[in-house]
Amino acid sequence: MRFQGSERYVATPDLMLAVNAALTLKRPLLVKGEPGTGKTMLAEEVAQALGMPLLQWHVKSTTKAQQGLYEYDAVSRLRDSQLPDADSAAKVRDIRNYIVQGVLWQAFTADQPVALLIDEIDKADIEFPNDLLRELDRMEFYVYETRELVRAKHRPLVFITSNNEKELPDAFLRRCFFHYIKFPDAETMQAIVDVHFPGLKRELLARAMKTFFDVRGLPGLKKKPSTSELLDWLKLLVAEDIPLEALQSSDDKVAIPPLVGALLKNEQDLTLFEKLVFMQKHNR
Ligand SMILES: Nc1ncnc2c1ncn2[C@@H]1O[C@H](COP(=O)(O)OP(=O)(O)O)[C@@H](O)[C@H]1O
Ligand SMILES: [Mg+2]
Repeated sequence: MRFQGSERYVATPDLMLAVNAALTLKRPLLVKGEPGTGKTMLAEEVAQALGMPLLQWHVKSTTKAQQGLYEYDAVSRLRDSQLPDADSAAKVRDIRNYIVQGVLWQAFTADQPVALLIDEIDKADIEFPNDLLRELDRMEFYVYETRELVRAKHRPLVFITSNNEKELPDAFLRRCFFHYIKFPDAETMQAIVDVHFPGLKRELLARAMKTFFDVRGLPGLKKKPSTSELLDWLKLLVAEDIPLEALQSSDDKVAIPPLVGALLKNEQDLTLFEKLVFMQKHNR
């Protein structure tokens, strides 16, 4: 099984290499990179390309590792225990009826090999990755309530993404294959845009890309626009039928691009940009 990119997803050679290395090592692939650089989509595309179902676990700040294994639904059990019929009474007696399987459990017991995405692992607290170490390593866990061991029938292909908001523990890193998705260079970005907007006018695209990389290059930006922002912006430029001239001032100086709200997402960055434009005007 090898991953070679897909029609909808532009994978650079080093990214393909990383995916295949994780497949060979049978270790989780830890993918880091700026938001919007295609980390989540990578898991979707690899799963599809390799013909594996994808189970997704989107991590939040409140997510606990245990939720990925299983949860004991005590509330339902209590409620059922108050029902008068015999069926409910029988159900209540067997605790297994109240064990809710998490995505790791589902991935472990699936009949075919599956891909498992643990998305944005850095959102959770620092215990989260540590608590999953053993499960991801040994591919098994114990259910105390029912005294059963859940063991993976097939080792799932695990993708873990991180936006780098928190450092991950060393012991966790040791067990992963790591890949950092670098921000695409102009050529790769061109390929990504082509995938999304095959019929875009070359001139418009060239100017839009120049503006985009100019904006990204502004020193001191709090949040640089990324791939997904460029794609949104291009979509708007096309939908609003923005003329070519609007994207470039006649003297080739920096100007606030139309629909800038698709690229810059906070007022500090906008102010910074406005200042730059203002200074340029007064400098000549
Ligand atoms: N290499 C790529 N090929 C094609 N589209 C991409 C690529 N990278 C990013 N995109 C686009 O950017 C969007 C955001 O990607 P996403 O996977 O959600 O980013 P992340 O998870 O890194 O924040 C995707 O929906 C896709 O449209
Ligand atoms: Mg994502």
